[in-house]
Amino acid sequence: MDVMCDRTFVLPAMLWLLTCGGSAGCAASTSTDGAGLERGAAIFDAQCALCHGRDGRLGLSGAKDLTGSTLDRDQVVGVIMNGRGAMMAYGKVLTPEEVQAVADHVLALRAVR
Ligand code: HEC
Repeated sequence: MDVMCDRTFVLPAMLWLLTCGGSAGCAASTSTDGAGLERGAAIFDAQCALCHGRDGRLGLSGAKDLTGSTLDRDQVVGVIMNGRGAMMAYGKVLTPEEVQAVADHVLALRAVR
C-alpha cells in the first residue's frame, strides 16, 4: 500500500508543473516565497538555460553571464519583458507572475557564485 502512496503524490505534482506552463488561471503565488523560486528555476531551465546555462554562465550567442550581472531587479524584469539584442522578449510568452518568478531566480543565481 505504501508504494501506491508515493505514486499518487508524484503524479499530480508533475501534472501541475505541466499544466502550469502558460495558463493565466494558474497559481496565485506572487514571487519571493519558496514556491515562487522553485517555479522560477523551472521556467529558467526551460526557457533561458539554452543560452544562459542552468547556472547562468554559459553565455551562448552573446548572452550575458548572469552571475556577473549588475542590473537591479526592475532592469532584469525589463530585459525579460522586452528582450535585448539577440534575446527575445518574454513579455507575451510568460505571465506576469512567471516573469517575477524567473527574475527572482536570475537574482538568486548571483548568490551561488
Ligand atoms: C536566444 C538566447 C537567449 C535566451 C533564450 C535568453 N537570453 Fe537572456 N540574453 C541573451 C543575450 C544575447 C543577452 C545580451 C543582450 C545584449 O545586451 O545584447 C541576454 C541578456 C540577458 C540579461 C541582461 C544581463 C545584463 O547584465 O545585462 C538578463 C537579465 C537575461 N538575459 C535574462 C534572461 C532570462 C530570464 C531568460 C529566460 C526567460 C533569457 N534571458 C533567455 C540571450 C538569451
